[in-house]
Amino acid sequence: MEMKRHHCYNAVIKKIDDKGGYQMKKKIMSIFLAAVMVGSFSLSVPVMAEEEATAEAADVDLSEYKVGVCIYQFSDNFMTLFREELLSYMVELGFSEDNIQIQDGANDQATQTNQIDAFITDGVDVLIINPVNSSSAATITDKVVDAGIPLVYINREPDEDEEARWDENDWDVTYVGCDARQSGTMQGELIVDLGLDAVDFNGNGAVDYVMIEGDPENIDAKYRTEYSIAALEDAGLEVNCLDDQVGNWDQVTAQQLVANSLSQYGDDVEVVFCNNDAMALGALQAIEAAGRTVGEDIYLVGVDALSEACEDVLAGTMTGTVFNDHISQSHSAADAAVNYLTGAGNEHYIGCDYVKVTAENAQEILDMAS
Ligand code: GAL
Repeated sequence: MEMKRHHCYNAVIKKIDDKGGYQMKKKIMSIFLAAVMVGSFSLSVPVMAEEEATAEAADVDLSEYKVGVCIYQFSDNFMTLFREELLSYMVELGFSEDNIQIQDGANDQATQTNQIDAFITDGVDVLIINPVNSSSAATITDKVVDAGIPLVYINREPDEDEEARWDENDWDVTYVGCDARQSGTMQGELIVDLGLDAVDFNGNGAVDYVMIEGDPENIDAKYRTEYSIAALEDAGLEVNCLDDQVGNWDQVTAQQLVANSLSQYGDDVEVVFCNNDAMALGALQAIEAAGRTVGEDIYLVGVDALSEACEDVLAGTMTGTVFNDHISQSHSAADAAVNYLTGAGNEHYIGCDYVKVTAENAQEILDMAS
């Protein structure tokens, strides 16, 4: 029930968003949350935790259908959680594990394109694709639609023009994911909630920060970078960007980048924003190596709510993170695949909400997500 309502709501919101932008979306979201009384995360957790396989086709024999799944890169922590949950949920729905092939794009679009071609030749019944480059979506869509195969994009959202084509042509193509602007806003709010006095260690009246970005081709990186800082500015805080570097979602890269920033800007670094938790974990290693202490002389936020990050939030070694709900997203992607196979069809956008994570709810998220 909860998930279906979730989808519906997000489809409506997406339509509004195209016209009215994110601010409108935020207002409607609050009204919606109040109306259905799921404003408190603790109320919604049990629903998700106890959720059974909900696809329309619970009664249909799915065991003969062949499913092709393309993941942009297996070594990505978040997409590993997503992929494992997707597989186990699809088996729970009734697919045969032998008929679900999952390929590693190894962060190379040419490799992934070959994998998609092979799936088409193999005659899969549905494709679930996490593109290496979102900008390749039009080419991918064309070849998959030409082959008459329904397509569910996940995690890396194609651009508006591409999504508009699915609607205009009434193609069996959809996107399942969250709106990265929401996660950026929540990251900013985690710092706003501390208050300027607590953050402004050097007393210059501004929040001096370092930004570590994910893959710049990815809309999640762009929006998290932009909206986290916009949330500080919207709250009336002055901001000062000391350093802005690309860590490509990667822990080791982020560790090196943050070590450099700390040696260059020293005690002036008050906040480190990382576009994801893998990079925040790297940042934390650099922060500790530099003799700094999160919560005492520096703050650190990420996105995803990886279990290591939740543990750090509980221990106070990370200020906060944002739950990127791989459970809801992977289930929605599988449900969408089923809905194409049964002919029920889907909206062309299936959304999911992020959840702000602090020491207060990190244990709940850990219990639910692991
Ligand atoms: C983001 C996630 C990152 C990374 C990226 C890959 O949503 O927060 O950790 O997995 O997707 O596209």
